[in-house]
Amino acid sequence: MYRRPIFAANWKMNKGPSDTESFVKSFLSKLTGRQTSDIVIAAPFIALPTLSEALRDARGVEMAAQNCSQFDDGAYTGEISVKMLREILVRHVIIGHSERRSIFGETNAVINAKMKKAREAGLKLIFCIGETLEERNAGQLESILRSQITEGLDGITPSDMEDTVVAYEPVWAIGTGVTATAEQAQEAHAFVRSVISDLYGPEVAGKLRIQYGGSVKPNNAAELMACPDIDGALIGGASLDAQSFVDIISNGSPAN
Ligand code: 13P
Repeated sequence: MYRRPIFAANWKMNKGPSDTESFVKSFLSKLTGRQTSDIVIAAPFIALPTLSEALRDARGVEMAAQNCSQFDDGAYTGEISVKMLREILVRHVIIGHSERRSIFGETNAVINAKMKKAREAGLKLIFCIGETLEERNAGQLESILRSQITEGLDGITPSDMEDTVVAYEPVWAIGTGVTATAEQAQEAHAFVRSVISDLYGPEVAGKLRIQYGGSVKPNNAAELMACPDIDGALIGGASLDAQSFVDIISNGSPAN
């Protein structure tokens, strides 16, 4: 089954509007030729209108938010609703990033509520999962991934899954410079696909794009992307530099 790779920059809490504008200018000038992968940039909320404007003529590069509220509107200080994201033409939203889970206390139930809210608004999901080093060392890799997937996707329909990408990000590889080996990543991705198959059947599982995230760099993108169950990457640190994001995309994408 052919799956078009998807490369997403997750800028986290980096780049305000003016850095966003200069990044996009530089990025688009370096991104040449016909793209064989989908490209997404997840900027801080406040930079999204600038990103939208800067990407106006750039076909094939879409915007993502890094989070959304599980509530519609009302007294939720500091929150951003899915309706607000739609209003500024955001297409994708990252949900369940490990930093949201560990620093901001998001549980599988909260993540599931956000996933459902985002789908109601027609946003495409980038649903993040991944184990800590302690969990991996304790032999809990599969049970953690299974519960994150099962609880996170509760109530998400097979047709919602057509607009969902799963990002497998081992927490121990995020921002550490330690990448999972291609074997470790492939093994986890194959397991994720098997859990999706248990839940939705082989057809949905076969179509699902599963990104790898965790210290992806220009020099390891090709090896990771060559794995049969790895369909793109979610990139933190290395996506902050236009040249390095371009290099990851070109090194990790199928030839034209
Ligand atoms: P790094 O690429 O900086 O390891 O971050 C990965 C990540 O968390 C992307 O969401």
